[in-house]
Amino acid sequence: MRKQVATITALLALAGLAAQTGTALADAKDGARLARLWCAACHVVADDQASGSEAVPPFAEIANRPNFDRDGLAATLSGQHPIMPDMTLSRQEIADLSAYIASLAR
Ligand code: HEC
Repeated sequence: MRKQVATITALLALAGLAAQTGTALADAKDGARLARLWCAACHVVADDQASGSEAVPPFAEIANRPNFDRDGLAATLSGQHPIMPDMTLSRQEIADLSAYIASLAR
């Protein structure tokens, strides 16, 4: 019984670690894929995209805003943006999308 508890505790610790590193290792490449899939209907998400919806800021513009902040972006995306549809993104997807958008700043 003692041993089982120890094993379970160790597994939980490992799972926690995996979850943490999962978010830490944001993948901008995957963010680009997600952006084309879910965001391109309204936003211009990359330079090679001809056009998006009018009055929707292109991602490159968002990334270049003086007050742009990657963590703030993640917070925006985890909350429900009033005008944007609720896309129920996972934390990993949010991290990836934020990394991708941040990578567009120049
Ligand atoms: C149905 C259209 C639509 C889709 C799909 C959409 N957006 Fe938006 N998004 C908008 C509109 C409209 C605004 C402008 C809202 C405003 O100015 O308040 C916006 C604004 C934003 C902003 C700026 C928020 C701010 O603080 O000014 C970010 C970041 C953003 N979208 C990210 C995304 C991401 C990431 C996706 C894909 C997962 C996405 N959007 C998909 C319509 C959309």
